[in-house]
Amino acid sequence: MLKNCSIKIESGCFFKCEMCYFWKRKKGSNIYVKDFDKIFRSLAKINPNMQVSLYGGEPLMRQDIFEIIQLATNQGLKSNICTNGFLLNKKVVKKLSEAGLYDMYISLDGYKKETHDKIRGQIGSYDKIINAFEIINGIKNSFYVSPTFVILKQNIKELIDFVVWAEKYRFTKEISLQVLEQPLNTPLIEYWYRDKRYSHLWPDDIILIKTIFQKLINLKKKGKLSKLKQTTNQLKGYEKYYLFPEVFVKKQNECNVQNEYLNIYDDGDVKMCNKMEPLGNVLNDDLYELWYSFEANKIRNKMKLCKTNCMQVLTTAYKE
Ligand SMILES: C[S@@+](CC[C@H](N)C(=O)[O-])C[C@H]1O[C@@H](n2cnc3c(N)ncnc32)[C@H](O)[C@@H]1O
Ligand code: SF4
Repeated sequence: MLKNCSIKIESGCFFKCEMCYFWKRKKGSNIYVKDFDKIFRSLAKINPNMQVSLYGGEPLMRQDIFEIIQLATNQGLKSNICTNGFLLNKKVVKKLSEAGLYDMYISLDGYKKETHDKIRGQIGSYDKIINAFEIINGIKNSFYVSPTFVILKQNIKELIDFVVWAEKYRFTKEISLQVLEQPLNTPLIEYWYRDKRYSHLWPDDIILIKTIFQKLINLKKKGKLSKLKQTTNQLKGYEKYYLFPEVFVKKQNECNVQNEYLNIYDDGDVKMCNKMEPLGNVLNDDLYELWYSFEANKIRNKMKLCKTNCMQVLTTAYKE
């Protein structure tokens, strides 16, 4: 059953984060607000309880974000966005809430303000997020907030302080940790973490990695991190990834992506997995028909046999 559809609604971004090069992309998207009505109708027909994740680039750069969310809400779909939080103010928060946004993932990459701002390349970014939390809390029946943290060499020492703080912080619904992947929007290369352009981001102190993950796993086992999304086994997988990044992630995890996840890119292309060919394009095709098509089943069978090292089975599509 389709559980989640991720839609890239904005290619560009105005931040220059150390681990993401989306700022190099042109602003915009080929999917216009008129197209979303059709997309959400089809998704609701496939599964009325599915989640819609609107992402970018920076999704709040889109002026019509409120209309897009409202269209999802009209179909009874729960929508979430992932944002750097910089464009949040009272008016924006109120409009997002009124449009029916369900959950907001906010990227927070440090326990210390200076660490977050440095990684994000934007002084004042941390303060904006904390201020946004206060605004969101002040609005009745507002959406949930879930801080999300990418583990890098620059912030791994702050990881425990961060999760302990976020667990206690009254506005948090869920805490999410992300493993570092090759900086986004860069041509894929093997062993990227050893490449001199990116290796400064990769935590390479084995003792430190083991110590931090041991503490984290112990806290999780003792039930002290109830808001942390990642399970104990998943955290063990994360630790292993940082210690032995070339070990095949898929060896330990079966792929369940083919039946539960769908991606729509900013040019409208629809894929079940970014390593597979597109199923079609939402600008020309009906999503419901695509999902149940012969072509989709062919790709599903291909995915079952896939042996590619795949981060999705360790992160978003993780299953025990
Ligand atoms: C590409 S961003 C887009 C949303 C928004 N601009 C933001 O920063 O939250 C989506 C998520 O990916 C994370 N991210 C960025 N670069 C990453 C990388 N190299 N590896 C893993 N996650 C990364 C971000 O921190 C963010 O939480
Ligand atoms: S992580 Fe988000 S805020 Fe940072 S450059 Fe990428 S898209 Fe922009």
